[in-house]
Amino acid sequence: MYRQCYRLASAPLFSSAFRRPQRGVLNGVPRVRAAPFSVSAPTDGSATLFQDLGAEVDGPNLRVGSPGPSELAKCADMLRQAAAWKMSQEDVDSLFHYGPQKGDPGFRRALATFLSSRYGDEVLADELIPTAGATQGLAMLTSFYFSTGDVVFVEDLTFFIALEFFRKELNLKVISIRSDSEGIIPSELKRRVDEYSSELRTPGDERPFRAMLYCIPTYHNPTGRCLSPERRSELVRVARECELLVACDDVYNLLPISPSDDQPVKVSQRLLAYDDIAPGDKTSGNVVSNGTFSKIFGPGVRLGWLEGPDRILEPLRTSHFIRGGGAVQHVVAGLAEGLIVLGLLGRHVDHCQSVFQTRARVLDAALRKHLPAGCSWVFPEGGFFIWLRLPENVDGGELETSVLQDNVLIFSGRNFSPDGKFNNYVRLCFTYSEEEQLSQGAEIIGKHVRVLAESN
Ligand SMILES: Cc1ncc(COP(=O)(O)O)c(C=O)c1O
Repeated sequence: MYRQCYRLASAPLFSSAFRRPQRGVLNGVPRVRAAPFSVSAPTDGSATLFQDLGAEVDGPNLRVGSPGPSELAKCADMLRQAAAWKMSQEDVDSLFHYGPQKGDPGFRRALATFLSSRYGDEVLADELIPTAGATQGLAMLTSFYFSTGDVVFVEDLTFFIALEFFRKELNLKVISIRSDSEGIIPSELKRRVDEYSSELRTPGDERPFRAMLYCIPTYHNPTGRCLSPERRSELVRVARECELLVACDDVYNLLPISPSDDQPVKVSQRLLAYDDIAPGDKTSGNVVSNGTFSKIFGPGVRLGWLEGPDRILEPLRTSHFIRGGGAVQHVVAGLAEGLIVLGLLGRHVDHCQSVFQTRARVLDAALRKHLPAGCSWVFPEGGFFIWLRLPENVDGGELETSVLQDNVLIFSGRNFSPDGKFNNYVRLCFTYSEEEQLSQGAEIIGKHVRVLAESN
């Protein structure tokens, strides 16, 4: 087990280079809790996610979970080659018609082969449907099976957009499940299902689930942890027993990292692999894997996939939402087929994995150098983020506002908590900014943590 946990205990708490601020005021700016989303972004639908996250700042960006500009700069050329290949295929005209509900067979075959080789576990083309990215995949799945008042169980730290979507758009009742340093605790899921039993829906033929569990077992956002095989199998057992649909965000699975070259990366089977069902069985299966090209290529392509058993995906494929237009992103899926068939995606994922690992190590080293006592974190096992615990008296939202004065972007921890906890945490993304900026960012964060720790 290579998980490395850093607890900083000896660095001085206060640097004289930094002026001690008045209470309630930091460097002349009144202290406010940072809003989860930017208050200045336009609200008429013209904002990008970057603007929504207040992320258009010319400085170290440790806030937005995306590949960086230097990786995105490679996408146009790859897509040009993929398009040239796809446009020269005999059947290309069909790409511009309404496509099959299941999704283009060429794309699904190519994706299944690619994922099988990366996961080391067979992915079947017939168990895939294209989506417009993981957010849309989750929205499609959840809104098909659940509606106002239904219950969704989530980890006690989870992806903030999913939380907002469940609560504000679908009006679901969100119940948190306690996790520990290893991730979600299956017995806690069982306990909470029993506790809320009278509020769960009655399963019917078309919607055979009582509630949903939304989870990120592999390289979790924001903690970077990876659930053990034992817990995965126990989680699936509980989900089956309690008749839960498990929506599993598998968006970082292809991007494991390790803290040093002598420690191997920890690759994990997706949760779906534990939900074993017999071939041809159309009446079993509880888990769906929700994947995306956003983290391994570029979020602008808005392409992803749902992988799961017929019992769950067949009703979706034949829903009016898909029947009305065929599978979503038909043309883009055709281009992605080219990316895979030409080997471009595979090489790019290898490149990203190596670059992201280097950046994680650089940020980790800079944090160890610059953060004061009372901070701790665990080197992530994959994904995009370091989950940083601050001294008890330092509020993550205050730190977020404070470092912004030095043009550094970070994300306050409470955004990820369904219960408004984790106030003394922040999430730091290491994939977007280059190495030098990450080091600079860590230094600035360290200074501001010292100031806040001293003045609170
Ligand atoms: C857990 C998780 N799910 C979904 C997404 C969004 O993915 P997509 O761009 O494919 O909608 C993200 C991106 O930050 C994520 O971290």
